[in-house]
Amino acid sequence: MWWVSVTMLVLAVTVSGKTKEKVCDKGWECSNSKYCCNDTITDFFQVYQFENLFAKRNSPVAHAVGFWNYQAFITAAALFEPLGFGTTGGKQMQMKEVAAFFGHVGSKTSCGFGVATGGPLAWGLCYNREMSPSQSYCDPNYLYPCTPGVDYYGRGALPVYWNYNYGIIGDGIKVDLLNHPEYLEQNATLAFQAAIWRWMTPMKKKQPSAHDVFVGNWKPTKNDTLSKRLPGFGATMNVLYGDLICGKGFPDEMNNIISHYQYYLDLMGVGRQFSGDNLDCAEQEPFNPSSKSASS
Ligand SMILES: *[C@@H]1O[C@H](CO)[C@@H](O)[C@H](O)[C@H]1NC(C)=O
Ligand SMILES: *[C@@H]1O[C@H](CO)[C@@H](O)[C@H](O)[C@H]1NC(C)=O
Ligand SMILES: *[C@@H]1O[C@H](CO)[C@@H](O)[C@H](O)[C@H]1NC(C)=O
Repeated sequence: MWWVSVTMLVLAVTVSGKTKEKVCDKGWECSNSKYCCNDTITDFFQVYQFENLFAKRNSPVAHAVGFWNYQAFITAAALFEPLGFGTTGGKQMQMKEVAAFFGHVGSKTSCGFGVATGGPLAWGLCYNREMSPSQSYCDPNYLYPCTPGVDYYGRGALPVYWNYNYGIIGDGIKVDLLNHPEYLEQNATLAFQAAIWRWMTPMKKKQPSAHDVFVGNWKPTKNDTLSKRLPGFGATMNVLYGDLICGKGFPDEMNNIISHYQYYLDLMGVGRQFSGDNLDCAEQEPFNPSSKSASS
């Protein structure tokens, strides 16, 4: 049909237009990408800000004292800045994306102590592993069989659970996590790398990543709109956790992630008034209705 070839022509022009786009080089942190033409993360997120966000992580009662640090985050982030992590959409969006990523991380690694100890929001990066796993998280899997004697309990910055998730993410970051899941509780750079890889990578082909739904790369289809899936922070929770927390009103776990995101927006000087539309996923149908997801 005539309109098919017209559509293809437009696509071809767009593609060749893209290949001619200007790329920039900012050295070790970002090079050879259009995203490197904007500020990089170290331009707007410095060590004192990391310390502000995670001030309590080395308190005696924390469970990963001495583990998490700014350098590890930046080293891991540098692998993804040329792909748009923290480098998309201009300064405010860039800062918001870092706050959003840490909103998830802070909530998932929080010790959640109470008001007397600075409030639960002050306790991000308090854990780097699940402390009392109730099981070994081994599920028979042809591609990613469990290694004998190895447990696949939650580890990392966006905790990874189950053998097959260690397998997929290990493939993604080119580290043998299936045989060595312990790397994620021994090496903070790898812990952040695995988390940012998950943030940047769609769970399934033709689906958006958390990054895509947050920075505005993703345009919802009619089906998405009918399912109340719209761009924004809410959809990042949908991508990462699906029906574990989305589409069920306002469970504490969802509110907690949102609170961390907004707390970090304030601390970074962006301000929670710029949280963006579609902040929650209370009414969203999950992208991937699931029994077990990468995060439980
Ligand atoms: C770089 O920042 C500008 C705004 O300062 C923004 O319009 C542009 O989209 C950004 N570039 C990329 C590749 O995101
Ligand atoms: C942690 O992992 C990174 C990335 O693979 C590696 O470069 C670094 O040497 C590791 N650090 C330690 C202390 O093993
Ligand atoms: C739209 O959503 C319905 C119900 O969720 C689903 O069965 C159908 O396959 C979807 N259509 C497309 C094109 O994704």
